[in-house]
Amino acid sequence: MAQMEEKCSCKSKVSGKSVQYNKLEPALRLELRTIVKALSLPGKGLLAADESPSSLGERFKLLDLENSETTRRDYRQMLFSTDKSILAQYISGILLHHETLYQKTSDNLEFVELLSQKCIIPGIKVDKGLVEIFGTEGEKTTQGLDDLQERCIQYKRDGCHFTKWRCVFKISDKLPSRLAIVTNSNVLARYATISQSARLVPIVEPEILNEGDFTLEKALDVHEEVLSTLFQVFKENNVYLEGMILKPAMVLPGTNSKLNFPPQTIAEYTITALQRTVPTAVQTILFLSGGQPDYTAFLNLNAINLYDSKKPWTLTFCFGRALQNEAMKVWNGDSTNILKAQEIFLARAKLCSQASEGQMEEDFSLNENQ
Ligand code: 13P
Repeated sequence: MAQMEEKCSCKSKVSGKSVQYNKLEPALRLELRTIVKALSLPGKGLLAADESPSSLGERFKLLDLENSETTRRDYRQMLFSTDKSILAQYISGILLHHETLYQKTSDNLEFVELLSQKCIIPGIKVDKGLVEIFGTEGEKTTQGLDDLQERCIQYKRDGCHFTKWRCVFKISDKLPSRLAIVTNSNVLARYATISQSARLVPIVEPEILNEGDFTLEKALDVHEEVLSTLFQVFKENNVYLEGMILKPAMVLPGTNSKLNFPPQTIAEYTITALQRTVPTAVQTILFLSGGQPDYTAFLNLNAINLYDSKKPWTLTFCFGRALQNEAMKVWNGDSTNILKAQEIFLARAKLCSQASEGQMEEDFSLNENQ
């Protein structure tokens, strides 16, 4: 990364000066593409460890763990200090929360330094959470644009090379509304251009939630409408497509529909939605796991990569829960469980890595409920 930085340094680095986006400097374009490439190396994906203290606290609560800054630090330290030489074979980057970026390990090493030593690229979640869009049926947009440029410039100085911003869409008979789709597309476009101007690759996450009672066809329709609007708005905002990453959900039926489809069908619908909407200038698509059972998320990613059709993108993972669930349970806040938990985390990362190349080996120790 240091080499990459040196080669690609550009004037917009610390000046805080806004960049004329349609005149984006060649050096900045090159830097963004270099980061995308480093995050998308074959057989690698990302770990999303950017849960806010309250979201992580909800998961800790299920295990009866205290939600303190120290417990959160200890948990992240357990994950990030997993075997140095092996983890980086599967994980190219880790998404952090603001709190974690400025935390140190119990040996006083900054997390950002720990990751860099492992050749894992640090990134940061920059949205400030969901707020209601008035006049809709409880639909949400995401806040945090006001001071985003200053924060991004600082995060770059502090060692991050990419950012993430999440907007969510609910599916029902009437939702998502056109207002929510357009509002969130505009928010994501503003975010993406600001992040790019600060030399940080934006990971754009329009998450279509799978909670509800709807069919796979309906999910496909909604993905097409959301993603086609998003890229139309990105065009209007001059988002540099080669210098961004898309992080969508897979196309799934609603969890209350009780409909079940084999991974091959999920792959077909997911690739169809992407082929119809995502420009080939986008290099990389990272899927979120979205609360699917862990093993199902791995199988679906594997099937997506095996699906025999045009796929002009790297299709890999940026999983949070599917990578962490089991490791967190085994760790359970007890330092004597660290090695066992790390072993589980590493085994999951390996399965994801294989799935990102359509080469997942069956693991009979896991089942559909895990
Ligand atoms: P999940 O994989 O748990 O869906 O989380 C990914 C993420 O980053 C959600 O914003």
